[in-house]
Amino acid sequence: MSDNSKVILITGTSSGIGKASSEYLAQQGHTVFGTSRYPGSYPKPDGYTILQMDVTDDTSIQNAINQIIENEGKLDVLINNAGFGIAGAIEHTSIDKAKEQFETNFFGTVRLIKSVLPIMRKQDAGLIINISSIGGIIGLPYQSMYSASKFAIEGLTESLYKELHSSKVQITMIEPGDFKTSFTEKREIPKNANQSKAFQNTLQVIENDENTGQNPILIGKLINKIINKSNPRLRYTVGAFDQKLAALLKRLLPNRFFDWIIMKHYKVF
Ligand SMILES: NC(=O)c1ccc[n+]([C@@H]2O[C@H](COP(=O)([O-])OP(=O)(O)OC[C@H]3O[C@@H](n4cnc5c(N)ncnc54)[C@H](OP(=O)(O)O)[C@@H]3O)[C@@H](O)[C@H]2O)c1
Repeated sequence: MSDNSKVILITGTSSGIGKASSEYLAQQGHTVFGTSRYPGSYPKPDGYTILQMDVTDDTSIQNAINQIIENEGKLDVLINNAGFGIAGAIEHTSIDKAKEQFETNFFGTVRLIKSVLPIMRKQDAGLIINISSIGGIIGLPYQSMYSASKFAIEGLTESLYKELHSSKVQITMIEPGDFKTSFTEKREIPKNANQSKAFQNTLQVIENDENTGQNPILIGKLINKIINKSNPRLRYTVGAFDQKLAALLKRLLPNRFFDWIIMKHYKVF
């Protein structure tokens, strides 16, 4: 094993970005611990360990982290990846569903960070990578709760980047565009949302963008590069050229013009 090999915890590795990244990072010689709420439902992964964890449940988080520390004596890198999406107009989205979205995507990330920070501070070393989204930079139509949960990740990470500045713990985030994963089939849509033609038009664009999206191994490769940097940036946007361009244009163009481009793309009118 090389000297650069790290002990990595990545949440949500039963499919998609988490699975592809765990496989890639393990191939690079890192000791990888992935997680799933239902690890017994998936074949034993090749090259890494999968632990039971529900990011909405403190006990399962603590048990998994304890197991890593018992086995390895340290934790170098945490990657907060577990997440899912809900879609639909805000009138069709219940407050309970909206809270579920935040419980996993936002508070799940907060719980993991609070659990590993004391360990990393004591080690005087550590790296936290939060998986945000281009939907955390651009408010996506009919994905308001998903976008809001990722905007919250952006705010959290931006704040912690400053808060951790004088420590040896580093934090960064990855903002993926569309990647082909199980995210699309697992998206939760309230039944009455489908009554709206406008929503159906937009949903078709969303699903098409995802189904023709990039290979998630690209994110594994990016994570490996970030791990090997002495001073990672706050943000890394990854995806197709037009999506990376959109993230840049959001910062450069007047809001009204930029939002018109986004609405046109998503067939909002
Ligand atoms: N695909 C894209 O285009 C895209 C774009 C931007 C950002 N992202 C972000 O990338 C991350 C990974 O998504 P993906 O595209 O790889 O989707 P995916 O294939 O559906 O994978 C999601 C993973 O999250 C886990 N998960 C969901 N709820 C969980 C919970 N409460 N506790 C623990 N694990 C949970 C799932 O594991 P179990 O069900 O086995 O527990 C699964 O392994 C998400 O944060 C997503 O928002 C994806």
